[in-house]
Amino acid sequence: MEELKEWCHLIPKIELHAHLNGSIRDSTLFELAKVLGEKGVIVFAAVEDVIMKSGRSLPECFQLFDLFHILATDHETVARIAKEAIEDFAAENVVYIELRTTPKNNESKGMTKRSYMEAVIKGLRAIETVSVYFLNTDDSTDNSIEAILTNDIHGAKKKNIYVRLLLSIDRRETTAAAMETVDLALELKDLGVVGIDLSGNPVVGEWNTFLPALTYAKEQGLPITLHCGEVPNRKEVQSMLDICPQRIGHACFLENEEWERVKSSKIPVEICLTSNLRTQRLESIDRHHFADLYKAKHPMVLCTDDPGLFSTSVSNEYYLAASTFGLSKGELIDLAQNAIEFVFASDGVKKALTDIIQAAKRELQQ
Ligand code: IMP
Ligand code: ZN
Repeated sequence: MEELKEWCHLIPKIELHAHLNGSIRDSTLFELAKVLGEKGVIVFAAVEDVIMKSGRSLPECFQLFDLFHILATDHETVARIAKEAIEDFAAENVVYIELRTTPKNNESKGMTKRSYMEAVIKGLRAIETVSVYFLNTDDSTDNSIEAILTNDIHGAKKKNIYVRLLLSIDRRETTAAAMETVDLALELKDLGVVGIDLSGNPVVGEWNTFLPALTYAKEQGLPITLHCGEVPNRKEVQSMLDICPQRIGHACFLENEEWERVKSSKIPVEICLTSNLRTQRLESIDRHHFADLYKAKHPMVLCTDDPGLFSTSVSNEYYLAASTFGLSKGELIDLAQNAIEFVFASDGVKKALTDIIQAAKRELQQ
């Protein structure tokens, strides 16, 4: 068991579904919440136990989402969360991540969607312990096995990570606000923004509100990924599939007919095992649609969704898949490698990622 866990840690991995504020470190959350408590913005005692807990219930997760929204009104805090999140993903041997976040307007704090994103990018630039390649022009890294698997910062060998950003449209937003997010994504293309996500509480909002912005994104050549079928809503799932998204996330409540469409169109699915369990989208992990998709060789990628919120990591998601569905070490590394095909970055990055995973295969399978 320990050996399998270690293997899951060592594999160079690709993370395509992680929300920035859901990736906050527990220690940072604790520290920042305490300060907010001292300032009288929140009642610290009301959240302290939830922050300290690892197996959080669904209502407790929503309680923390509210806290994240308060924290994300400060530029310095946003930069810090972004910096630490990437450091943590790199420590897990994630070599490519598409980190998604909802650009936020907050007039009273002098925050615009653009200044929020500038804070995220400032956080990426501030990382020193890891070599971060986040500009669209960065398409080659040091692919040596030492650079992938070591973090000897004293000897100047640092881990490498490619970072790309997805801008999320929150389901609470208006059509105009969603359009603003797509325009911002187009403006920030050179700073690593590669696509658009639709997320937020799945029982909030109407599909037709977001459709104009998502169609506009597609017309402008921005790939889109949609939180799809998180709750039963057949009409919405069908409308989502009608616009041919480049990827979908979760896909917990799809009927056979919609699965046929997903499978025949080979739409990659971002699988978030722990998240689906915690948010009670299924009764038990062994009943997850991962098993059926894996058997069908359908394109998919293992992701964390919100590693801070759900107390998980990419390595842990690989371990969970291996231990639940009986995947071998070789199958796990193939799963990581297959994900390269579904990233929204350039062919140059895909080539570099292939080299990285090939090198790791040679080293690890010796
Ligand atoms: P942010 O976009 O960086 O602020 O990340 C947190 C946000 O991501 C939340 O407020 C939600 O809108 C979204 N989010 C995180 N996890 C989920 C999920 O499981 N389903 C839908 N939306 C989610
Ligand atoms: Zn998500």
